[in-house]
Order: sequence, then C-alpha cells, then structure tokens
Amino acid sequence: TTKAIILVGGPSKGTRFRPLSLDVPKLLFPIAGKPMIYHHIEACSKVENMKEIILIGFFQESVLSKFISETSKQLNVAIRYVNEEKVLGTAGGLYHFRDIILEGNPSEIFVLHSDICCAFPLNDLLAFHKQFGRACTIMGTEIEAKYANQYGCLVRDEKTAQLLHYAEKPETFVSNLINCGVYCFSPEFFDIIGKTMIDLKTSGQNITTDYPEITRKGFDVERLRLEQDIFVPLAGTGFISVYPYVGFWRQIKNAGSSVYCQELYLNHFAKTKPEVLKKGSNIIGNVIIDPTASVDPSATIGPDVYIGPNVKIGKGVRVIHSIILDQTEIKDHACIIYSIIGWQSLIGVWARIEGIPNYTPFLYSQDKRRGVTIFGAGAQANGEIIVSNCIVMPHKQLDRNYNNEIIL
Ligand code: GDD
Ligand code: GTP
Repeated sequence: TTKAIILVGGPSKGTRFRPLSLDVPKLLFPIAGKPMIYHHIEACSKVENMKEIILIGFFQESVLSKFISETSKQLNVAIRYVNEEKVLGTAGGLYHFRDIILEGNPSEIFVLHSDICCAFPLNDLLAFHKQFGRACTIMGTEIEAKYANQYGCLVRDEKTAQLLHYAEKPETFVSNLINCGVYCFSPEFFDIIGKTMIDLKTSGQNITTDYPEITRKGFDVERLRLEQDIFVPLAGTGFISVYPYVGFWRQIKNAGSSVYCQELYLNHFAKTKPEVLKKGSNIIGNVIIDPTASVDPSATIGPDVYIGPNVKIGKGVRVIHSIILDQTEIKDHACIIYSIIGWQSLIGVWARIEGIPNYTPFLYSQDKRRGVTIFGAGAQANGEIIVSNCIVMPHKQLDRNYNNEIIL
C-alpha cells in the first residue's frame, strides 16, 4: 500500500493571500472550482492501494474538518489531519509523525507541498521511484533559467537519475531543473532523515542564520528543513533520485496566481475530464459554471473562468480569465477581466473590473503595475466605474474609479 502526506503549513503563512485568506484558509481557496488541495487529494486517490492521506500543519483542526469529511466521502479515500503543536519545518513534521505515517507498513509514501499546481503524475513518479530503487525521489521540472533561483535547484546525473547536488534558492545560477515540491519516499528514508538530523546536531554545521533563534538556543531537534538540512547533505550520496517531470507546474503564492493556475488546470481538464467544462454558444474556451449559478444567455463567459454557487450574472455581462465566488452578483453589462471577485460581492451595471495580466508567472516578486484585481468578500462596486489593478478589502463600497491601489 501507499500513503500520501500533504504539508499544509499554517495560517501565518497565508499573508500573501489577503484579503481572500481572511475568509478561507489559503489551502482551501477555490482554483478551477475546487479547493486548492482537492486537486492533490484527487490525484492521490487515483493511486492504486492508497491507504490514507495525512495533512500535516498548524491549523486549528475545525477549519479543515468539513472539507476533510466531504472530500473523503466524495473521493472514497481516508484523510486525516495531524497538528504540529509548534512550527516544525518541512521535514520536522514528517519526522515527528513518522509512527503515524509508517503505521500499517506502507511500501511508499508521497509527500506533496500544498501551494503548487501541476498534473500530479503520481503513478509515473511511483514507477520511476521503484525503477531506480533509491530511498527518495524528488520530482523536478525545467523552468526558464532566470527564474530558477527562487526555487530549490537540482543537479542530476542523466544516466543514473541520481541527485548530485542540491541548492535551495541559490544566489548564483546552479541549474534550471527545480524542485517541484512533490516527492516519493520509501520507509527507510525516515531512518535516513533521523540519522542526518543527528549528524547535523553533532557537527553543528549547516545551522545558518535562517533560524537565529535556533542558533542561539542550540539546535532544536524538531525543526528541520527538508531542503537545506536533508537534501543538501544527502545529494551525491546515492539516496536520492530525480524524476524529470514534463508538464505544467506553478507555485501558488499569492491570490492572483490562482487565476493563472486555474487556467492551467482548465487546460488539463479539457484533455482529462472535459465533462466538467461548460459548453454553450455564449461560452468561450474553458469555463466551469456551478449548476446553482444563474447566467443570463446574453452574457459571454470565458476563456478561463470559474463561476461559483448561487452567483447571478446579468444581461450583456462579459467575464474573462476570472474567478467569481459564491453568491456574488454581477449586474447587467459589467465587464470582469483578470479578477477574483470574493464571496457575496456586488458589481454594478456597466462597471469594468480589470487586472493587468502578468506574463512572468514564475516571478512572484511582482511588477507592482501588473496584477489581478481582487475583491474581498462583500465588497461592492457602483455602476459605471472602472477599477483597474486594485486589491479591495472585504465589505468596501467603491463609488469612483480606482487604478493601481490597495483600497483599505
Ligand atoms: N506542516 C508544515 N510545517 N508545513 C510546512 C512548514 C512547517 O513548518 N513550512 C512549510 N510548510 C509547507 C507549506 O505549506 C508548503 O506547502 C510547503 O511546505 C513549502 O513551503 P515553503 O516553506 O514556503 O517553501 P517554498 O515554497 O519557498 O519553497 C519550497 O517549495 C518549492 C516548490 O514549490 C522548496 O522546497 C523549494 O525547493 C521548492 O522549489
Ligand atoms: P483591445 O484591448 O483594444 O483589443 O479592446 P477590447 O475591448 O476588444 O479588449 P478588452 O480586453 O478590453 O475586452 C475584451 C472583450 O470584453 C471585448 O471584446 C468585449 O467583448 C468585452 N468588453 C470590454 N469592455 C466591456 C464593457 O465595458 N462591458 C461589456 N459588457 N463588455 C466589455
């Protein structure tokens, strides 16, 4: 059997998702019509003999319990949440909960970051992991060289697939093959993590200024980074393989990036499950419309749009590259482009709400002049105004034009 772990982190890490994360934790934000980590769980549920999916993080369990029970039923897979009492790092939680993870003797364990989108080719990753027989396989993908230093960079032996060198967010160019945040472990990798941790502790090396509090108090055995503390020393020692993934992949770091990730998922669905996409003479490209939404037939929707439950879309409305969330109303002839309209919002007649697309999605240290316009929950735009490239806090009412502003 296999198991899967999703590293979900905690609420403090969702700050770049404001104002939307005020209403829903980042990992549950809807992308292509489903909560962000639903896509991960769905992929895991398709692996043969998937025994259970364990979410590790530092959320209050109540925030996740409804999602967990519904998704578990829907996809017919066991899901549970385990809580880190304190922040343990990307490897600390895995190691701390190793008994729970290894319970029932799974033969392989997938580990996934929550804040990424990709096709999650878990069956291929598993076959590759078994073929090369090392304790850990990292999924890598090639991106444009100039963005690679924002990620973990991998150097791989072409013939043997061995990881030769690992550099986390290096200052100078190392490789354009990057760590996707998707791994496959054999159970013995947990022993290797334990041993590496002890080596690290005794040698005192590698404890950098990243964690000044740890350096001061001496090494905190619990807080452990999978990247710097485990992959860096283990590169070139024969324990790790790199699986070269070819396909779409993105990080989901801020709310705006969910519009681009949605586009990638919708393209993927057009090939893998076209039945979820809406068809119609007023639909352009890939669109998902919740069955409870009402869309006037004279409105034109798409490409790359999601319209949520109980949304009302009036006559002559145009929606392009956007996410419209539950119970929002878009009045007649309004136009929404590259925007996310939060729950229960109201957009007046002939209003134009637009983002300015950023075509360098691997670069999140953004060009401030370009971005997706975001309306927090319950925000309202009066009729006939233009809101361009703005972030609107929940429950604001806008009665004039705005451009390039954060509206508090
Ligand atoms: N449970 C738990 N506990 N989860 C955590 C913790 C923690 O202490 N810290 C981070 N995570 C989770 C986050 O929720 C996210 O899903 C994932 O681990 C990685 O988050 P970051 O620590 O913010 O790292 P990053 O995104 O800047 O970079 C990592 O991911 C890239 C791919 O997206 C690195 O692994 C890079 O090498 C990699 O390229
Ligand atoms: P160019 O950018 O010069 O090509 O102009 P455009 O208006 O064709 O492009 P834009 O990206 O502004 O809009 C894309 C589409 O949205 C248009 O072709 C219209 O169908 C529609 N649209 C644009 N503005 C409005 C508006 O204010 N109201 C409505 N109902 N639809 C609009």
